[in-house]
Amino acid sequence: MRAALESVAASPILRANQRLTFRDGKFRFEIVRRGEQSIYTVTDGVSTISEPVHFSFGQGQAGQTYLLRYRDDYYESRVSFYRDIKGLDLTLGYRGTTPRSVEEAFGRKLPRDEVAQCFACHATNSVSHSRLHLEKMMIGISCEGCHGSGISHIRAVRDGQPEKGSIFNPGILSGDEISQEFCGSCHRSVDRIVGLNSDDGKFNVRFQPYRIFSSKCYSDDRRISCIGCHNPHEAVKRDSGYYDGKCRSCHTGQPPDLEEGGKVCRVGKRDCASCHMPKVDLPGAHFRFTDHRIRIARPGEPYPE
Ligand code: HEC
Ligand code: HEC
Ligand code: HEC
Ligand code: HEC
Ligand code: HEC
Ligand code: HEC
Repeated sequence: MRAALESVAASPILRANQRLTFRDGKFRFEIVRRGEQSIYTVTDGVSTISEPVHFSFGQGQAGQTYLLRYRDDYYESRVSFYRDIKGLDLTLGYRGTTPRSVEEAFGRKLPRDEVAQCFACHATNSVSHSRLHLEKMMIGISCEGCHGSGISHIRAVRDGQPEKGSIFNPGILSGDEISQEFCGSCHRSVDRIVGLNSDDGKFNVRFQPYRIFSSKCYSDDRRISCIGCHNPHEAVKRDSGYYDGKCRSCHTGQPPDLEEGGKVCRVGKRDCASCHMPKVDLPGAHFRFTDHRIRIARPGEPYPE
């Protein structure tokens, strides 16, 4: 998560790609590296808008979207980089839309409060009182983003009152507080999923706190909270066998658990997540997201919303 936001100068993807191009109808897009900058250009052959990329959002596990500035406004780039195709395609949510002008093709003009929200979830110390304050920003989710302000802790130590330090240990939270409040404040829990950019229900597969909440496995138990399966200090483990022990910690088949999730599987003994947490294709995402609604997924069954 440290790379949730990147400066254009540091972005490995932008550095590695000297020239990216894409065509969408009559519009041509280009991102060209020039020194420490990347210049985002869109043209219809008559008019052209060309501006340096302001910030790059996402390390590109799935994709990377660009924040642009044009005439004092912020824009979300209409095209994004996708790791799977190693190139540009429409940003999620833009499929099926046809820009009427070069300005519309450039991207979506973002209201100021929405820009602040992007930074609030993708960076640390960038927003106060719902307004952007980039001068104190730490790029990406740093330790402070989850553990509280290091500065006030250092001040407390300096003032000889370390017990008042405000380093926060999320380890004291309950399972529900971790999943729905703490991680859910960015990954989106039940009450934070409104107003998203598509009416295709599958898009909520990206909101793990919301999805897992509706699984029969879910309870306030920390074993089924986000940190039951993920170490927030490490990259996500992509080996489904890694999660078997996490499932078995409840599905033991042994008393006294039989009442509570003790059931065992008659079908599989390993790679539990590969069958019970199916991967979902989102149109145009070039990435298969893992459905956190743990369930018996029958072939051909529609995606349960
Ligand atoms: C409520 C918090 C929140 C807001 C607001 C938000 N994001 Fe995100 N974003 C996330 C989380 C959490 C993920 C990782 C999970 C996922 O991919 O859905 C993510 C993933 C992404 C990714 C994919 C990264 C990858 O590695 O594939 C991009 C690109 C992105 N966001 C861009 C943006 C932009 C641009 C904005 C503002 C217009 C924005 N986000 C607003 C929380 C947020
Ligand atoms: C995405 C949120 C997040 C980020 C970013 C994060 N942590 Fe944590 N950290 C947690 C959570 C959640 C726990 C509790 C884990 C548990 O109880 O199993 C934790 C626990 C810890 C602990 C153990 C606390 C104790 O008393 O046992 C230390 C030390 C720690 N983090 C250090 C760091 C450092 C250093 C960084 C920056 C490099 C960092 N963390 C970044 C979420 C985060
Ligand atoms: C019971 C185990 C389990 C729990 C609990 C769990 N996850 Fe996951 N998570 C997984 C598995 C399995 C994967 C996919 C790993 C792979 O690709 O093989 C995954 C992948 C992810 C990814 C990467 C994107 C993707 O779709 O592959 C994110 C982000 C994520 N989880 C966030 C969360 C959050 C936030 C929570 C808490 C609400 C959570 N997870 C709780 C098992 C779990
Ligand atoms: C301040 C907002 C924020 C909080 C709080 C947060 N996340 Fe994230 N997380 C993000 C964003 C943004 C991304 C996407 C980063 C990217 O793709 O570049 C992400 C990505 C992830 C991933 C995928 C990383 C990878 O290696 O591909 C996992 C897993 C994850 N978060 C788990 C957690 C867990 C567990 C917690 C709670 C302990 C948590 N996050 C809290 C914002 C947050
Ligand atoms: C905190 C304990 C806990 C964890 C961890 C856990 N489960 Fe469950 N699971 C339950 C409970 C409780 C139920 C509902 C009662 C039952 O079926 O025994 C359940 C039910 C299920 C069901 C039946 C769902 C249905 O729709 O009938 C499946 C399948 C399942 N779990 C698979 C898994 C897999 C796979 C994992 C790991 C990725 C996992 N569980 C992790 C507690 C847990
Ligand atoms: C090859 C796919 C597959 C794998 C791998 C798999 N399961 Fe299942 N599981 C199923 C199917 C299909 C069912 C439904 C069986 C039925 O209805 O008779 C099921 C049923 C279950 C149930 C419900 C049992 C009940 O009596 O209601 C649980 C709990 C469960 N699995 C947990 C797990 C765990 C834990 C693992 C890993 C150790 C695992 N599964 C591995 C396909 C799989």
